[in-house]
Amino acid sequence: MSDTITPMIGFIGGSGVYDLDGLEDRKWIKVRTPWGDPSDEILTGGLAGVRVAFLPRHGRGHPTPPSALNYRANIDAMKRIGCTELISLSAVGSLREDLPPGHFVIVDQFIDRTFAREKSFFGTGCVAHVSVAHPVCPRLSDALEAAAEEIAIPVRRGGTYLVMEGPQFSTKAESLLYRQWGCHVIGMTNMPEAKLAREAELCYASMAMVTDFDCWHPDHDHVTVEQVVKVLFSNADKARALVKAVVPRLGAPRGPCPAGCDRALEHALITAPDR
Ligand code: ADE
Repeated sequence: MSDTITPMIGFIGGSGVYDLDGLEDRKWIKVRTPWGDPSDEILTGGLAGVRVAFLPRHGRGHPTPPSALNYRANIDAMKRIGCTELISLSAVGSLREDLPPGHFVIVDQFIDRTFAREKSFFGTGCVAHVSVAHPVCPRLSDALEAAAEEIAIPVRRGGTYLVMEGPQFSTKAESLLYRQWGCHVIGMTNMPEAKLAREAELCYASMAMVTDFDCWHPDHDHVTVEQVVKVLFSNADKARALVKAVVPRLGAPRGPCPAGCDRALEHALITAPDR
């Protein structure tokens, strides 16, 4: 068996990102999974000769809130459709002065404070504990960094993303606490997405797009949806440019992931195989 992988780049992102000119053979495909329905159909096509897939994380028109997303179905559907790499594009609040709205962060760590979501493909009957010590793929993150620099997006490589349950935004005390923890950005969607991608042995990276200063900042008393949406639109333009710049960097046939994302289960299964 050949070890050469022809990549298909999957994007999970918000509205706007998939309205991409230059996308050839566009097809919305309904994917069924044993975990239920994903957020929406998946848009597939070709970009610069590379196969790509887009899943609107909250569904087209944004009908589904973060806590109600079927994260397992989303990841499984992207794997079933053939994605070998997954890139998350998501809106976040900033927990640092030097990351104002409009900045992008290539996240490399997460603190998962979510508590009302299905977080694993495994469970009773088949137990597995994958490592998420390094939850993102450095190869995909390298490509995101190079693409962002090419199109001159203000970007920071590395940062900790605090994932909160929502749907309400944080209290000021929480926001200040997360700052003390050394977090850079806050959002509601990247967990359990990143954990499930690892269980599914998919390379995963996350580009967090800052829309607001949350509520810790002395000059920005609290965050409003109006504020978030306003910045979201200009971030979506940058996100589309980023998609176009990153896809050619990842499209060439490749060998196994140097970081081992695609072999994450090799040392993770604990249930005896003959059970
Ligand atoms: N998404 C965008 N801004 C956010 C914030 N301040 N908190 C949580 N999620 C967000």
